Amino acid sequence: MKTLKTKTFGSKNLPTARRKSVAVSQESWIKTEHLLPGKDIPFMVQPAMDGMNLVDWAKNNRTVVDDLFLKHKALLFRNFHPKNVEDFQEFVKATSDGGFLEYKDRSTPRKDVGDKIYTSTIHPSDQTINPHNEGTYWVKWALKLYFCCMTASEQGGETPIADVGKVFKRLDADIQKQFLEKKMMLVRNYNDGFGLPWQEVYQTEDKKEVESYCRENLIEFEWKGGDRLRTRQIRPAVRKHPKTDELVWFNHAAFFHYTTLDDNISEALLAEFGEEGLPYNTYYGDGTPIEASVVEHIRQAYEQEKVMFLWQEGDILMLDNMSIAHAREPYVGDRLIATAMTEAFSGNVG
Ligand SMILES: [Fe+2]
Repeated sequence: MKTLKTKTFGSKNLPTARRKSVAVSQESWIKTEHLLPGKDIPFMVQPAMDGMNLVDWAKNNRTVVDDLFLKHKALLFRNFHPKNVEDFQEFVKATSDGGFLEYKDRSTPRKDVGDKIYTSTIHPSDQTINPHNEGTYWVKWALKLYFCCMTASEQGGETPIADVGKVFKRLDADIQKQFLEKKMMLVRNYNDGFGLPWQEVYQTEDKKEVESYCRENLIEFEWKGGDRLRTRQIRPAVRKHPKTDELVWFNHAAFFHYTTLDDNISEALLAEFGEEGLPYNTYYGDGTPIEASVVEHIRQAYEQEKVMFLWQEGDILMLDNMSIAHAREPYVGDRLIATAMTEAFSGNVG
């Protein structure tokens, strides 16, 4: 375990017994270490003394947080005991530049639990959510993604993470090349009787608003009659990280591919809607199908990089959203993980 010396956040917040040394050295202390043996992520930050206020510490030691974050990509702040959503929100503000991002163009339902603080995805508790980075198919996505465990489930409910720079390196060279050259396309169909309605995805009842959102966000759209809508968006599958220049596997190609659904569900959907009409599906950017074997190869790459740990209440996980994918394991009991996104970034699209 490494103990890191950092600037103090002001002695009024520190326990009396420590005041003298802090006043002399102007230093406060955090303890840092890798959470899991042999795993680079997440890197854990804990208080080295009782009564530390995480928000105050973060405000006064922003460069320490920035350096740790750049180096480790996934930081787990544990044992700081934030009391509520507001504490989480203040921590997010203290460690981010720029405002919070909203969840528009959703793929899953969520609830707001604070101002631009959301529950993590509402999805049946007995199912897995596959690894993905947030917003890869938007034109602007978050560089920082935060989770805070408000209620830990009785069993399971982990948020596995995976380094997508390493995922990309694990892919066969010809598959890397295909996606680098062709990019990828996401096709979605709405209001055919399955999946989220466009009204929830775009958070409006107004078709004109949907159309202008699509135009602004480089999404092709097509009204199919009645309330039914089809959209297509082509995006790079691999991006260069703006801070590290690393190539990262930053896309939902496997996540939204129809073979990712259970066999019986994908067969039923294919029979009902045909491939063209699936609620969502992915293709190479030129519209050709992505082979099931390629999708499986991608899934295996994520799987090999997957790192998993149990949540403790009060944990805050801060992720470099372009470098680290996240997922969700099935769980038993109540579970509430608040989430926030900050530092909007837009790379080249299309
Ligand atoms: Fe997510």
